[in-house]
Amino acid sequence: MTRDLSFCYSGSLKQFLPSGGIERRHMKRFIRDCRPLAGSLKVEMETGEIEFLNHIRHSRAKREWEPLSEKWRRKSAGMIVIGIGGSSLGARAIYEALRPFRDEGLRNLFFFENVDPEAAFMMLKKLDLSRMVINVVTKSGKTIETIANLLLILDRLKKRQGKGYSSRIAITTADQNGDLAEFARSNRIPIIPLNENEVGRYSVLGPAGLLPLRYAGLDIQMLISGAKKMLRRCMNLDDPEQNPAFVYASIKRMLDLRGKSIEVIFSYSSLLGPLLAWYAQLLAESSGKRISIEGRVVNEGQTPISAIGTLDQHSLLQLLLEGKKDKIVTFWEIERFRRELRIPEEKSFKGSFQHIQGKTLGEVLHAEKVGTEYSLRRAGVPCLTISIPVIDEFNLGQIIAFLEMQVFFYCRMAKVNPFGQPGVELGKKVAIEVLSTTLTSGAASKLKKAHGVKEDFKL
Ligand code: PA5
Repeated sequence: MTRDLSFCYSGSLKQFLPSGGIERRHMKRFIRDCRPLAGSLKVEMETGEIEFLNHIRHSRAKREWEPLSEKWRRKSAGMIVIGIGGSSLGARAIYEALRPFRDEGLRNLFFFENVDPEAAFMMLKKLDLSRMVINVVTKSGKTIETIANLLLILDRLKKRQGKGYSSRIAITTADQNGDLAEFARSNRIPIIPLNENEVGRYSVLGPAGLLPLRYAGLDIQMLISGAKKMLRRCMNLDDPEQNPAFVYASIKRMLDLRGKSIEVIFSYSSLLGPLLAWYAQLLAESSGKRISIEGRVVNEGQTPISAIGTLDQHSLLQLLLEGKKDKIVTFWEIERFRRELRIPEEKSFKGSFQHIQGKTLGEVLHAEKVGTEYSLRRAGVPCLTISIPVIDEFNLGQIIAFLEMQVFFYCRMAKVNPFGQPGVELGKKVAIEVLSTTLTSGAASKLKKAHGVKEDFKL
């Protein structure tokens, strides 16, 4: 059995997709025209300033936090990870994908992301904080949701643990001088430093993701080995046509320029659902930009839509087949399932269900994927497939590196900065303003007016 991921893009080529496909020669020309870009990317990737590449290439050299996670592992039953967006989605995706295969020795991870009072209340109710350790992950050290959840848990932890509480917390952050860092220092809470170049959504293979995953008992070395293997393939830009991440990005860019800017990612594995959320954030926050790197207003961006097969065949598929032709579909499929179930044969069940009796669930899932792809191609929807041999650390490392490289290349082709997210700042500013105002009804309505919030209907 091969341990290589495979990437099939023929379902986006005219030869196999007569209506809506790309001519192979046009693809070759597009990639040829990208050669100057490939040259400059090569230089950029060697500067050492792209932190997600450093995580993969120099991983071993950067693990000062390992003794702490080892010590915690011996002394606690679970870890609360407080963070949001890129600071939690990656670790959660890997943990959720692998958890079912680790019955023994796994430590639980609990992710506190949102500030939804009901969800937080229920989580806190079921957790025994005296058996937990806490890892706060925030590059900026300033994210409202993260600080709110930290304060919530800190207060409860102090009440249960008394003075010893600080030996149960660590803060992973690039903030060295802000209020969070000062709080950590004055309470002797260790800081796991992040580099200034760190970007949340590309941080999963750095300390932000590896510390909790190592604590949980997952094989982070295999994760990195898989990512390294993929990087060797995808950093080679001497012949971009042989670089799968570059080809994936090129196809997406070409189709984008033809009005297909929505990427539906159809995972034929429920366990990879959280990885869909990670990828959706990676693609949306990286590619969605108003201003290009040349300073022009471009309003670029790919819209990700997450789908699970077969569930969303009963939900989104009708739209994909017959709705606007503005989408491409990338399938994620698993070649071998580590747990399998055979559908029992039932003699009294005759006729039309013969074909599923005696088959495995994996066989049914695979057949459904083939059927869905076939119908989409017939409808003129470009289809791509990433095949994953089996869900394990090595292959998760490979797919994460592959997708990070693809998004990075895509953004460069679209001439936007993959690493910033300037657009979300205004919303944060307004939220802070709202929270800082003593909300007398007069003040509240002034603020609403200032930000254009109207009540159109009272229902
Ligand atoms: O990918 C990103 O950069 C963002 O999603 C951030 O991770 C998210 O906004 C949380 O920011 P921080 O890590 O600063 O708390």
